[in-house]
Amino acid sequence: MNNSIERVLISEEKLKEIVSEVAQKINSEFGDEEVLLVIILKGSIVFATDLMRKLDMPVMIDFMQASSYGAGTQSTRVVNIKLDLKADIEGKNVILIEDIIDSGNTLRNLKAMLLKRNPKTLRICTLLDKPERRETEIEPDYVGTAIPDEFVVGYGLDYNENFRELPYIGVLSRHVYE
Ligand code: IMP
Ligand code: MG
Repeated sequence: MNNSIERVLISEEKLKEIVSEVAQKINSEFGDEEVLLVIILKGSIVFATDLMRKLDMPVMIDFMQASSYGAGTQSTRVVNIKLDLKADIEGKNVILIEDIIDSGNTLRNLKAMLLKRNPKTLRICTLLDKPERRETEIEPDYVGTAIPDEFVVGYGLDYNENFRELPYIGVLSRHVYE
C-alpha cells in the first residue's frame, strides 16, 4: 500500500457495492426520465463515471468547479465558481454529484445558485458524508456512506492534487500534512 496512507477505509469491492446501491435509488426515483448529472470537478469524476454506467435512464452530463478549499485539509467558507455549466438546466432533472460533504458550504452555495435557474428537480448525491463536520443545513438526497471525521483520499479525492488515482478510499497519514 501507498506509504502516505494510514489505512484503507473503503475497499475497491465495497465502493462497487456502494455505487450500485446509490444507482438503484436513482433508478427507482427517476424510472426512464432523463437526468442531467452535474459533476463537481475534480473530486467526483471517478464516482460519477462509475455511477453513470449503472443508471438505466438517458443520462446527460455537465461539469462545474467550485473551490472552497485552498491547499490543505481545512475548509474555508468562501465558495468561488471556477467553471460554470454549459447546459441550460431549466426544466431538467438535475443531480449534483459530489465526492464528499464536509462543512456543507460548497453544496449549499451551489444548490442555491442552481435553484435560481429553475430545474424541474434538483437532487444532491454524494459518495461520502462527514455529518460531524456540518456547519450549515444541507441534506443530501443520496449518500453512498457516512464516514468519521478523518481526512480521506483516493477514488478521485485528493490532498493537494495527489492520490486521486488510488482505487480505494484511504485515510491520509498525519505525517503527510503535519
Ligand atoms: P465542504 O464545502 O466543506 O462541504 O467541502 C467539500 C469539499 O471539500 C469536497 O468537495 C472536497 O473537495 C473537500 N474535502 C472535504 N473533506 C475532504 C477529505 O476528507 N478529503 C479530500 N477532500 C475533502
Ligand atoms: Mg476537492
